[in-house]
Amino acid sequence: MPLTLLPFSGASLAPHIDALGTLRITVFREYPYLYDGSLDYERDYLQCYLRCPRSLVVLALDEDRVVGATTCMPMSEEGPEFQAAFKAGGYDLETICYFGESILLPEYRGLGLGKAFFAHRESHARSIGAQIATFCAVERPADHPLRPADYRPLNAFWQAQGYTQHTELQTTFVWKEISEEAESPKTLTFWLKQLPT
Ligand SMILES: CC(C)(COP(=O)(O)OP(=O)(O)OC[C@H]1O[C@@H](n2cnc3c(N)ncnc32)[C@H](O)[C@@H]1OP(=O)(O)O)[C@@H](O)C(=O)NCCC(=O)NCCS
Repeated sequence: MPLTLLPFSGASLAPHIDALGTLRITVFREYPYLYDGSLDYERDYLQCYLRCPRSLVVLALDEDRVVGATTCMPMSEEGPEFQAAFKAGGYDLETICYFGESILLPEYRGLGLGKAFFAHRESHARSIGAQIATFCAVERPADHPLRPADYRPLNAFWQAQGYTQHTELQTTFVWKEISEEAESPKTLTFWLKQLPT
């Protein structure tokens, strides 16, 4: 399969916003995110990457179709809901790179792209002077009614990539789930990795 990984920083992502938003809506509809998204919201939300010249978005393309993506940006330019736990914990935000997401359509998983996405983002994080990489993951009870029988948590993958879950660093983010009438808050826990210098 001839897959290409293309990096974008800041405004250069603009022509791909709709493809990225559509991919996010498709992949995050799955458990554990169960996100009932809209392209209007996505277009607005994804502006944060266009506004930030130090952001990185890597798109995975199968010929000209966007089948995967990963994102990151300096924590100092992220929203207050992502910064708050780190400020309270006494971290210097300038030393942290926040990893937004890694998403692949199901048929492109298990090919090593998830690892490549981490490698690209960690390399970018070091290039902008970050010493810590972090991302957050939603908390779900083990007996969640919408958890597929064959669901495999990503925790083992993240640990293998050198990340540690920090239960003292959490945030609340609001989105509408597929089974909900309206948006509701969800708890997410941060995972951290000290980057090699
Ligand atoms: C996260 C994601 C991008 C990983 O991508 P991937 O290309 O399948 O990952 P890779 O092929 O690079 O490697 C995955 C490794 O973790 C292992 N693994 C453990 N749990 C896994 C899981 N649930 N899914 C895929 N791989 C998993 C694989 O076996 C593999 O290890 P190996 O090489 O030793 O066999 C992909 O699973 C995905 O899009 N998930 C849905 C979206 C999501 O939840 N993203 C994370 C939060 S933003």
